[in-house]
Amino acid sequence: MFYRPAKAYINLPALRHNLAIAKSLAPNSKVLAVVKANGYGHGICRVAQQLVGADGFGVASIDEALLLRQKGFLHRILLLEGLFSEIELPLAVQNRLDIVIHSRHQLQWILHYQTASVINVWLKIDTGMHRLGFSTEEIPSVIQQLKQNPNSFNIHLMSHLASADELTVTSVEFTKKQIKSFNSTTKAFDFPKSLHNSAGLQSYGSACYDWVRPGILLYGIGSINTPFDKQAQLKPVMRLESAVIAVRWVEAGEFVGYGNDWQAPKRTCVAVIAIGYGDGYPRLAPTGTPVLVEGKRVSLIGRVSMDMITVDITEHHESIHIDSLATLWGEGLSVDEVAAYANTISYELLCGITSRVPMIEIQ
Ligand SMILES: Cc1ncc(COP(=O)(O)O)c(C=O)c1O
Repeated sequence: MFYRPAKAYINLPALRHNLAIAKSLAPNSKVLAVVKANGYGHGICRVAQQLVGADGFGVASIDEALLLRQKGFLHRILLLEGLFSEIELPLAVQNRLDIVIHSRHQLQWILHYQTASVINVWLKIDTGMHRLGFSTEEIPSVIQQLKQNPNSFNIHLMSHLASADELTVTSVEFTKKQIKSFNSTTKAFDFPKSLHNSAGLQSYGSACYDWVRPGILLYGIGSINTPFDKQAQLKPVMRLESAVIAVRWVEAGEFVGYGNDWQAPKRTCVAVIAIGYGDGYPRLAPTGTPVLVEGKRVSLIGRVSMDMITVDITEHHESIHIDSLATLWGEGLSVDEVAAYANTISYELLCGITSRVPMIEIQ
């Protein structure tokens, strides 16, 4: 029994549906479903269970990979940042994990390790993002060293796009440059290749290569570049809900909330909803951020507190009451829109739901 009304509903069929869309966008590629950060905040095992139809999973650490192995997932599991320390290598090999190698120190660890097992390695190439990866010039020598090593490696080549989700001319030019650089660096090698995250997959379909690596798309969030038909087809997986716990009228000139941040310009009906930054609702969401109450779009007013927010329900005061259902994001109100108000991105909001919020699965 959960007494507090704040709850996150996880729509399991929506995950399967979004995976099917990812597959339809890259029908000739394998799909590595990115489930790191606890399945973008939705629960890693819960998410993986729905995405068994993917060809593999992408995680950020051995800890996440082992959670999946312990639950019996036999899929390929790729450590997207590779190993953080050399001592992880035997564990990774024993558990048949795929390993990204993005830097020289990781390459040395793997070259000095001795094993009879074949290791799936993914060489990360820096095609312009300048976060992780070998330079394009280094790649032939890295491949040579792996080939000459007594261990057997299944080599894959990958890179990551920095701004495929942005529409500006500069970003589009940059993404095209990254694709070109990946293509020219890898074309001499007959290894499986992977470039696209969700935004790449949605907007640059001709460069899907052998593996695509969607994350956010699987949770129902389309990139702004997404063609409208595909955008509309994605289904949001998380719905964050709570309820109205108080209603009051304030007179013109009165203040609402901490810091007297909001002053009523006219007589206003204010509803208090049991959700706050202690649940992962963004504290920086400003006055004007939309909330759905009884299906009506109303505006947040004043500061977000730890456990509560206040909204202006003047226009709908006759239909909104104590216990009215409030949707903070989900069907009808995109987490992307809320994130934009709070000057952040949907990823951060989804990952940021705190442990006190019960997650309820919708079958
Ligand atoms: C290497 C790599 N591939 C794929 C993804 C998935 O990205 P997205 O959630 O934007 O699809 C990520 C996410 O950060 C990543 O780091």
